[in-house]
Amino acid sequence: MDIKTDKNVNTEILSEVLNGLNQNPKMLPSKYLYDERGSQLFDEICELEEYYPTRTEMQIMQDNIIEIGELLGEGTLLIELGSGSSQKIKLLLDHIPGLAGYIPIDISSEHLLNSCKVLQEEYPDLNIFPLAADYTNSFSLPKLEIKYDHKAIYFPGSTIGNFTKKKAKEFINRIANIAGENGGLIIGVDLKKDKKILEDAYNDRKGITAEFNLNILNHLNDEINSDFDLVNFKHYAFFNEVEDRIEMHLISKKDQTVKIGDSSVEINNGEHIITEYSYKYTLEEFKELVSVHFELKKYWTDANNLFSIQYFKVKI
Ligand code: AVJ
Repeated sequence: MDIKTDKNVNTEILSEVLNGLNQNPKMLPSKYLYDERGSQLFDEICELEEYYPTRTEMQIMQDNIIEIGELLGEGTLLIELGSGSSQKIKLLLDHIPGLAGYIPIDISSEHLLNSCKVLQEEYPDLNIFPLAADYTNSFSLPKLEIKYDHKAIYFPGSTIGNFTKKKAKEFINRIANIAGENGGLIIGVDLKKDKKILEDAYNDRKGITAEFNLNILNHLNDEINSDFDLVNFKHYAFFNEVEDRIEMHLISKKDQTVKIGDSSVEINNGEHIITEYSYKYTLEEFKELVSVHFELKKYWTDANNLFSIQYFKVKI
Protein backbone atom coordinates (compact mmCIF):
# COMPACT_ATOMS: atom_id res chain seq x y z
CA MET A 1 0.00 0.00 0.00
CA ASP A 2 1.15 3.51 -0.80
CA ILE A 3 1.18 5.62 2.35
CA LYS A 4 1.23 9.34 1.90
CA THR A 5 2.97 11.37 4.53
CA ASP A 6 2.03 14.92 5.23
CA LYS A 7 4.88 17.23 4.28
CA ASN A 8 6.56 18.54 7.37
CA VAL A 9 5.95 22.24 7.07
CA ASN A 10 9.00 24.14 8.12
CA THR A 11 7.61 27.00 10.18
CA GLU A 12 10.74 29.11 10.14
CA ILE A 13 11.02 29.12 6.35
CA LEU A 14 7.29 29.66 6.16
CA SER A 15 7.35 32.84 8.22
CA GLU A 16 10.39 34.14 6.33
CA VAL A 17 8.64 33.57 3.01
CA LEU A 18 5.34 35.07 4.14
CA ASN A 19 7.18 38.06 5.51
CA GLY A 20 9.01 38.56 2.21
CA LEU A 21 5.87 38.21 0.13
CA ASN A 22 4.04 40.75 2.26
CA GLN A 23 6.66 43.41 1.53
CA ASN A 24 6.42 45.86 -1.32
CA PRO A 25 8.12 44.96 -3.62
CA LYS A 26 7.79 41.26 -2.86
CA MET A 27 11.04 39.46 -1.99
CA LEU A 28 12.23 35.91 -1.41
CA PRO A 29 15.48 35.14 0.47
CA SER A 30 18.11 34.21 -2.12
CA LYS A 31 19.48 31.38 0.03
CA TYR A 32 16.45 29.35 -1.10
CA LEU A 33 17.83 29.33 -4.64
CA TYR A 34 20.09 26.53 -3.44
CA ASP A 35 18.43 23.18 -2.99
CA GLU A 36 20.06 20.18 -4.65
CA ARG A 37 18.73 21.16 -8.08
CA GLY A 38 19.62 24.81 -7.49
CA SER A 39 23.22 23.94 -6.63
CA GLN A 40 23.40 21.78 -9.75
CA LEU A 41 22.07 24.65 -11.87
CA PHE A 42 24.53 27.06 -10.29
CA ASP A 43 27.37 24.68 -11.24
CA GLU A 44 26.05 24.80 -14.81
CA ILE A 45 25.93 28.60 -14.68
CA CYS A 46 29.62 28.62 -13.74
CA GLU A 47 30.40 26.83 -17.03
CA LEU A 48 28.43 29.27 -19.21
CA GLU A 49 30.22 31.45 -21.72
CA GLU A 50 28.39 34.58 -20.50
CA TYR A 51 29.04 33.92 -16.80
CA TYR A 52 32.60 35.22 -16.45
CA PRO A 53 33.05 35.38 -12.60
CA THR A 54 33.92 31.79 -11.70
CA ARG A 55 36.41 31.16 -14.45
CA THR A 56 37.98 34.61 -14.11
CA GLU A 57 38.44 34.19 -10.36
CA MET A 58 40.07 30.78 -10.86
CA GLN A 59 42.41 32.29 -13.44
CA ILE A 60 43.44 35.12 -11.14
CA MET A 61 44.09 32.63 -8.33
CA GLN A 62 46.18 30.40 -10.58
CA ASP A 63 48.18 33.31 -11.99
CA ASN A 64 49.09 34.66 -8.56
CA ILE A 65 48.97 31.68 -6.27
CA ILE A 66 52.64 31.71 -5.26
CA GLU A 67 52.42 35.32 -4.11
CA ILE A 68 49.04 34.78 -2.43
CA GLY A 69 50.31 31.74 -0.53
CA GLU A 70 53.40 33.59 0.65
CA LEU A 71 51.41 36.62 1.75
CA LEU A 72 49.06 34.46 3.81
CA GLY A 73 52.20 33.04 5.26
CA GLU A 74 53.70 30.58 7.72
CA GLY A 75 51.37 29.26 10.42
CA THR A 76 48.09 30.25 8.73
CA LEU A 77 44.88 28.74 10.00
CA LEU A 78 42.75 28.92 6.86
CA ILE A 79 39.00 29.40 7.29
CA GLU A 80 36.88 29.00 4.18
CA LEU A 81 33.34 30.40 4.09
CA GLY A 82 30.98 28.35 1.91
CA SER A 83 33.42 25.56 1.17
CA GLY A 84 31.08 23.44 -0.99
CA SER A 85 32.89 20.55 -2.63
CA SER A 86 36.31 21.61 -1.25
CA GLN A 87 38.07 20.81 -4.53
CA LYS A 88 39.09 24.34 -5.56
CA ILE A 89 40.68 24.89 -2.16
CA LYS A 90 43.55 22.56 -3.06
CA LEU A 91 45.29 25.36 -4.94
CA LEU A 92 45.57 27.37 -1.71
CA LEU A 93 46.32 24.37 0.50
CA ASP A 94 49.23 23.50 -1.79
CA HIS A 95 50.72 26.99 -1.71
CA ILE A 96 50.58 28.24 1.87
CA PRO A 97 53.96 27.49 3.39
CA GLY A 98 53.63 25.87 6.82
CA LEU A 99 49.82 25.81 6.76
CA ALA A 100 48.63 25.11 10.31
CA GLY A 101 45.10 23.92 9.58
CA TYR A 102 41.97 24.27 7.53
CA ILE A 103 38.43 25.03 8.73
CA PRO A 104 35.86 24.61 5.96
CA ILE A 105 32.49 26.12 6.85
CA ASP A 106 29.34 25.16 5.03
CA ILE A 107 25.64 25.17 5.80
CA SER A 108 25.12 21.61 4.59
CA SER A 109 26.73 19.25 7.09
CA GLU A 110 26.28 16.21 4.89
CA HIS A 111 28.03 17.86 1.96
CA LEU A 112 30.76 19.08 4.27
CA LEU A 113 31.56 15.75 5.88
CA ASN A 114 31.68 13.94 2.55
CA SER A 115 34.02 16.44 0.96
CA CYS A 116 36.25 16.52 4.06
CA LYS A 117 36.63 12.74 3.96
CA VAL A 118 37.84 12.94 0.38
CA LEU A 119 40.15 15.85 1.18
CA GLN A 120 41.65 14.13 4.25
CA GLU A 121 42.57 11.12 2.11
CA GLU A 122 44.40 13.40 -0.29
CA TYR A 123 46.01 15.40 2.53
CA PRO A 124 46.59 12.86 5.32
CA ASP A 125 48.71 15.28 7.39
CA LEU A 126 46.42 18.29 7.14
CA ASN A 127 44.49 19.35 10.26
CA ILE A 128 40.90 19.70 9.03
CA PHE A 129 38.17 21.01 11.35
CA PRO A 130 34.90 21.10 9.42
CA LEU A 131 32.22 23.39 10.82
CA ALA A 132 28.58 23.16 9.75
CA ALA A 133 27.18 26.64 10.19
CA ASP A 134 25.29 29.39 8.42
CA TYR A 135 28.22 31.78 8.11
CA THR A 136 25.87 34.61 7.04
CA ASN A 137 24.69 34.66 10.67
CA SER A 138 26.91 34.89 13.70
CA PHE A 139 28.92 31.75 14.32
CA SER A 140 31.89 30.82 16.48
CA LEU A 141 34.86 28.61 15.80
CA PRO A 142 35.36 25.34 17.67
CA LYS A 143 38.08 25.21 20.34
CA LEU A 144 41.20 24.06 18.55
CA GLU A 145 43.93 21.85 19.94
CA ILE A 146 46.54 23.02 17.47
CA LYS A 147 49.09 25.81 17.37
CA TYR A 148 48.83 28.45 14.68
CA ASP A 149 50.24 31.89 14.11
CA HIS A 150 47.20 33.73 12.72
CA LYS A 151 43.89 33.12 11.02
CA ALA A 152 43.02 33.92 7.42
CA ILE A 153 39.49 33.95 6.14
CA TYR A 154 38.91 32.92 2.55
CA PHE A 155 35.64 34.09 1.03
CA PRO A 156 35.65 33.42 -2.72
CA GLY A 157 32.96 33.65 -5.40
CA SER A 158 31.88 37.26 -4.81
CA THR A 159 29.22 35.92 -2.47
CA ILE A 160 29.73 39.18 -0.54
CA GLY A 161 27.75 40.69 -3.44
CA ASN A 162 24.55 39.04 -2.18
CA PHE A 163 24.52 41.33 0.86
CA THR A 164 23.13 44.86 0.78
CA LYS A 165 25.83 47.35 1.72
CA LYS A 166 24.49 47.60 5.27
CA LYS A 167 24.44 43.81 5.72
CA ALA A 168 27.86 43.55 4.10
CA LYS A 169 29.29 45.93 6.71
CA GLU A 170 27.71 43.94 9.56
CA PHE A 171 29.10 40.77 8.08
CA ILE A 172 32.59 42.26 7.68
CA ASN A 173 32.46 43.34 11.32
CA ARG A 174 31.72 39.76 12.43
CA ILE A 175 34.42 38.36 10.15
CA ALA A 176 37.00 40.79 11.55
CA ASN A 177 36.18 39.61 15.07
CA ILE A 178 36.64 36.01 14.07
CA ALA A 179 39.88 36.69 12.18
CA GLY A 180 41.22 38.46 15.27
CA GLU A 181 44.64 39.93 15.83
CA ASN A 182 46.89 39.80 12.79
CA GLY A 183 44.10 38.06 10.90
CA GLY A 184 43.82 38.08 7.12
CA LEU A 185 40.98 38.15 4.63
CA ILE A 186 41.25 36.92 1.09
CA ILE A 187 38.09 37.71 -0.78
CA GLY A 188 36.76 37.47 -4.34
CA VAL A 189 34.89 40.60 -5.43
CA ASP A 190 33.13 41.08 -8.75
CA LEU A 191 33.86 44.46 -10.32
CA LYS A 192 31.64 47.10 -11.85
CA LYS A 193 31.82 47.02 -15.62
CA ASP A 194 29.98 47.54 -18.89
CA LYS A 195 26.28 47.00 -18.33
CA LYS A 196 25.95 44.69 -21.34
CA ILE A 197 28.57 42.27 -19.99
CA LEU A 198 26.86 42.26 -16.59
CA GLU A 199 23.36 41.75 -17.91
CA ASP A 200 24.44 39.01 -20.33
CA ALA A 201 26.00 37.11 -17.41
CA TYR A 202 22.56 36.88 -15.77
CA ASN A 203 20.56 36.38 -18.98
CA ASP A 204 22.37 33.52 -20.68
CA ARG A 205 21.14 32.27 -24.05
CA LYS A 206 20.67 28.69 -22.85
CA GLY A 207 18.26 29.90 -20.16
CA ILE A 208 20.08 28.19 -17.29
CA THR A 209 19.98 31.30 -15.11
CA ALA A 210 16.23 31.57 -15.77
CA GLU A 211 15.80 27.95 -14.69
CA PHE A 212 17.96 28.61 -11.63
CA ASN A 213 15.83 31.62 -10.69
CA LEU A 214 12.50 29.82 -11.20
CA ASN A 215 13.75 26.81 -9.23
CA ILE A 216 13.45 28.84 -6.01
CA LEU A 217 9.68 28.32 -6.34
CA ASN A 218 10.06 24.54 -6.71
CA HIS A 219 12.31 24.51 -3.67
CA LEU A 220 9.74 26.43 -1.63
CA ASN A 221 6.95 24.15 -2.82
CA ASP A 222 8.97 21.24 -1.38
CA GLU A 223 9.81 22.99 1.88
CA ILE A 224 6.66 24.83 2.91
CA ASN A 225 3.89 23.19 0.96
CA SER A 226 3.23 26.17 -1.29
CA ASP A 227 1.73 25.79 -4.76
CA PHE A 228 3.73 28.15 -6.98
CA ASP A 229 3.23 27.14 -10.60
CA LEU A 230 6.47 27.90 -12.45
CA VAL A 231 4.75 28.45 -15.80
CA ASN A 232 3.07 31.52 -14.32
CA PHE A 233 6.35 33.37 -13.74
CA LYS A 234 9.19 34.62 -15.90
CA HIS A 235 12.84 35.34 -15.19
CA TYR A 236 14.04 38.93 -15.26
CA ALA A 237 17.53 40.22 -14.46
CA PHE A 238 18.96 43.70 -14.96
CA PHE A 239 21.70 45.97 -13.65
CA ASN A 240 20.37 48.65 -11.32
CA GLU A 241 22.81 51.50 -11.91
CA VAL A 242 21.55 53.55 -8.98
CA GLU A 243 22.15 50.76 -6.47
CA ASP A 244 25.18 49.18 -8.22
CA ARG A 245 23.64 45.74 -8.31
CA ILE A 246 22.29 43.04 -10.58
CA GLU A 247 18.76 42.22 -9.49
CA MET A 248 17.07 38.93 -10.26
CA HIS A 249 13.30 39.04 -10.24
CA LEU A 250 10.43 36.72 -11.06
CA ILE A 251 7.57 38.46 -12.84
CA SER A 252 4.03 37.16 -12.50
CA LYS A 253 2.41 36.45 -15.87
CA LYS A 254 -1.13 36.76 -14.51
CA ASP A 255 -3.23 37.68 -11.50
CA GLN A 256 -2.87 34.68 -9.22
CA THR A 257 -3.44 33.42 -5.71
CA VAL A 258 -0.64 31.26 -4.34
CA LYS A 259 -1.14 28.99 -1.37
CA ILE A 260 1.65 29.36 1.19
CA GLY A 261 1.23 26.82 3.98
CA ASP A 262 -2.15 27.55 5.52
CA SER A 263 -2.40 31.08 4.17
CA SER A 264 -2.33 32.52 0.67
CA VAL A 265 -0.82 35.46 -1.16
CA GLU A 266 -2.25 37.49 -4.06
CA ILE A 267 0.17 38.25 -6.86
CA ASN A 268 -0.87 40.62 -9.62
CA ASN A 269 -0.20 40.30 -13.32
CA GLY A 270 3.16 41.99 -13.96
CA GLU A 271 4.12 42.09 -10.28
CA HIS A 272 7.78 41.46 -9.43
CA ILE A 273 9.28 39.22 -6.77
CA ILE A 274 12.94 40.01 -6.04
CA THR A 275 14.97 36.83 -5.59
CA GLU A 276 18.58 38.03 -5.51
CA TYR A 277 20.91 41.02 -5.45
CA SER A 278 24.43 40.78 -6.74
CA TYR A 279 26.33 43.96 -5.91
CA LYS A 280 29.22 45.06 -8.09
CA TYR A 281 32.03 47.21 -6.70
CA THR A 282 34.90 49.34 -7.89
CA LEU A 283 38.20 48.64 -6.10
CA GLU A 284 37.84 51.98 -4.30
CA GLU A 285 34.26 51.30 -3.19
CA PHE A 286 35.13 47.90 -1.76
CA LYS A 287 38.17 49.21 0.08
CA GLU A 288 35.92 51.87 1.60
CA LEU A 289 33.19 49.35 2.49
CA VAL A 290 35.51 47.29 4.71
CA SER A 291 37.80 50.11 5.81
CA VAL A 292 36.61 50.25 9.44
CA HIS A 293 38.05 46.79 10.10
CA PHE A 294 40.42 45.88 7.31
CA GLU A 295 43.42 47.37 5.57
CA LEU A 296 44.00 46.51 1.93
CA LYS A 297 47.40 44.92 1.41
CA LYS A 298 47.25 43.80 -2.21
CA TYR A 299 44.77 43.01 -4.95
CA TRP A 300 44.89 41.11 -8.20
CA THR A 301 42.64 41.40 -11.25
CA ASP A 302 42.43 39.83 -14.71
CA ALA A 303 43.59 41.63 -17.87
CA ASN A 304 40.04 42.89 -18.55
CA ASN A 305 39.37 44.06 -14.98
CA LEU A 306 36.30 41.86 -14.70
CA PHE A 307 36.97 40.41 -11.25
CA SER A 308 39.27 40.91 -8.28
CA ILE A 309 40.90 38.94 -5.51
CA GLN A 310 41.72 41.19 -2.60
CA TYR A 311 43.91 40.61 0.42
CA PHE A 312 43.29 42.51 3.65
CA LYS A 313 44.64 42.43 7.18
CA VAL A 314 42.66 43.21 10.29
CA LYS A 315 43.31 46.74 11.55
CA ILE A 316 44.52 46.99 15.11
C1 AVJ B 1 27.02 32.90 -6.13
C2 AVJ B 1 26.03 34.92 -5.44
C3 AVJ B 1 28.12 34.95 -6.57
O1 AVJ B 1 25.67 36.67 -7.74
O2 AVJ B 1 26.73 35.96 -9.48
C4 AVJ B 1 24.65 33.49 -10.49
C5 AVJ B 1 24.80 33.76 -7.91
N1 AVJ B 1 22.94 34.30 -9.51
N2 AVJ B 1 23.73 33.73 -11.42
C6 AVJ B 1 26.17 35.77 -8.41
C7 AVJ B 1 24.15 33.84 -9.28
C8 AVJ B 1 22.68 34.21 -10.82
C9 AVJ B 1 26.16 34.35 -7.86
N3 AVJ B 1 26.80 34.27 -6.50
